[in-house]
Parts: sequence; C-alpha cells; structure tokens
Amino acid sequence: MISTSQTSHLDSIDSFLAMEIFAKAQALEAQGRDIIHLEFGEPDFTAPPAATESVKKSMKINDAGYTFSQGLEELRNEIVKKYANDYGVKILPEQVLVSNGSSLLLYLAIRILAPPGSQVILTDPCYACYENVVRLAGSEPVMVKLRHEDGFQLNVDDLKKRVTPKTRAILINSPMNPTGVVFSSEVMKAIAELDIPVISDEIYADLSFEDPPCSFLSYSPQTVAIHGFSKSYAMTGWRLGYMITPLEWMSAADRLHQNLMISATEFVQEAGISVLRKSVAYCESMKTEFNRRRLFVLDRMHELGMDLGYTPTGAFYVLYKYRDSEKFLWIFVMKCWKKLVLLLHPDGILALERKVLSGSATPNPWKT
Ligand SMILES: Cc1ncc(COP(=O)(O)O)c(C=O)c1O
Repeated sequence: MISTSQTSHLDSIDSFLAMEIFAKAQALEAQGRDIIHLEFGEPDFTAPPAATESVKKSMKINDAGYTFSQGLEELRNEIVKKYANDYGVKILPEQVLVSNGSSLLLYLAIRILAPPGSQVILTDPCYACYENVVRLAGSEPVMVKLRHEDGFQLNVDDLKKRVTPKTRAILINSPMNPTGVVFSSEVMKAIAELDIPVISDEIYADLSFEDPPCSFLSYSPQTVAIHGFSKSYAMTGWRLGYMITPLEWMSAADRLHQNLMISATEFVQEAGISVLRKSVAYCESMKTEFNRRRLFVLDRMHELGMDLGYTPTGAFYVLYKYRDSEKFLWIFVMKCWKKLVLLLHPDGILALERKVLSGSATPNPWKT
C-alpha cells in the first residue's frame, strides 16, 4: 500500500519557503494575474551577452557530454584568476569544483566536514535553506543570534558560547541574505581565530558596496568557499556554481559530486568561461544599479519613518523589523492590502500583484 508514512523519515525537512510562495504566485499568474516576484533573490537583468553567444556556439557544435567531475579546466583556471584579481586570494585549479548551482555544493560542504550527529553553527537569521540542508546532511543546526542592536554583525562571544565538542563547521554568508550586512574584517578575523572549519557562502561577494569584495579564504585556509554565477552575473536559471576547498578535502567532495551529479552541464560551463573573460563591465553596471536601488530604498524607508537601525551595505536585501512597528504595518495595510493580492509569509517572503484591483480586499492566499 502506498502511504505518506513511507517518506515520513523526511518529515523534519521543511520545504524551501521561497519555492512555496513562488508556486502560489505562479498559480495566480495562471489565472491571468500580473505578479511582482519578490520571493527569491533574483536579479531582474538578463544574463551577460557573452553567455548567450557562447551557448549559441556550443549548440552549433552540438557535442555536449559529461566533463571531468570537478569541471572544465579552462573554467577552473578563470575562477582561479577571479579569486586572485577580485579578492586577492591565491588558489589552485585543483581546489575548485564546479556544479549545477551552488545549492548542491552547500550540502556537499556540510557532508564532507560534518559527520551525522555532529553540529554545524549557523546564524539566525540566515538564508532560508541552511537549516534544512544541515538536517538533510544528518547534522544538527546550532543557531547563533545576530542582534539588531549590533547592526546584525556576528558577535563572536555569542558564537563561542555555541561551540561544543560536536561542532564541526561554522556556516557564514557575507554579504548576507536576508540582512544585506557585510561582516566586518574584525568579525572575520575573530571567526578565523576559533580554528574551526568555515563554510563561507560567497554568492554575494561581488555585491559589496562600501567595502572591497572579499573571500573568507583571505582570513583562513580552513575554508570551503561557495560561489556562483546566479547573483552577480544574473544567471540564476543557468545553474552554475562552484566550491573551493583545501586540496586535502577535495577528494571527499569530488567523490560525492561524481556520485550525485557526475558533472555540471558542459555548455553552461563553457558559457561561464566566456562570462568570466568578457563580462566585467556588464557586471559593474549591474552592481552600480543595485547600489542605486539600495540607496533609493533606504531613502524612501527613512522618509516613511521606518528606522532600520542598521545599514545594509551588500547583496540586495533589507531586513525590517515590522512586527515591532505598528506604524509600518498600518501604512503597509492601508496602502497595499485593499489593492493588491498579497502572498506574505510570516517570515517575510512575499510576492505582490502588480495590477491595482478595485473593489474589496483579496484574502491572503497563504492562509487559505
Ligand atoms: C545565500 C544564498 N546562497 C545560495 C543561494 C543559491 O544559489 P544558486 O542559485 O547558486 O544555487 C542563494 C539564492 O538565493 C542565496 O541567497
């Protein structure tokens, strides 16, 4: 007999909230509604022209196959150059493993460092997937609170209190989703001094608007750095990401990757080579626009009397503590609720309908 109890061992793994809201928003789109998608951190730019030109060429040749599991050598060489030029970090191509997006690599990073039953320290808040991925890997997520009064910088004394004999890794993300905070160099140094392996999600590293872009590798070699093309190259749908590990850890990572993925899509890897070689100016112009929008949002929030209490200086997120602000809720409800279909999850992930509806309020479909 088929029943849900057969998959109940996965009951503790929640869905990725953003995907859930996205599915509901898509259902509304299928009814002909025009939705503004704010669920994902997804740039509204197109991929760099170098990417599409490369794919056209690859399609003409039409010889895509499996590649070396760690990725095409030329791509790994370009990644080595990027880390040297952009972050001042020297790595070897043998330290790089390319995959279809960075999400799987987060899982791999946790798996290689943290055996089942161990603990991985995460920040609270953090990217919505982290807790689930740690649990999937058989480890326990241990949260260290980022305090609003510290400007959401990591307080390393708080972090130290969460370290136990079971701690195998600390997972950080700077610039950070969902605060937009870039951890200070003092915080990074203090984390490195703990002498615990760090998984550094650097997917937003290029979107640092006030400090030079940086990799945790410049603070400690005991690092798995995770990066990709989704954000600063506006290539979410291309699914191209990579990880950098010490040589000593790569064999374990690659064995997992070979068995789970074989290799990343060849023509997408080829596009990645072209993008890294030819798209510096394109990415700079996107970055300038992201920064303009960041300053615009901060100004408008200030005008509305919405005191953020900190300054997001990276990525494209702002975390507003709306629950404590009746004023903001009032403005939001009065301005939006009667006019927009609103998909608002209590954790703040949302999608909005663009068209202004006339008539009565549309119920929040999240609650139906
Ligand atoms: C912090 C963080 N890490 C990883 C990802 C996923 O990246 P990818 O598209 O490379 O799987 C996201 C996507 O929103 C993210 O915000």
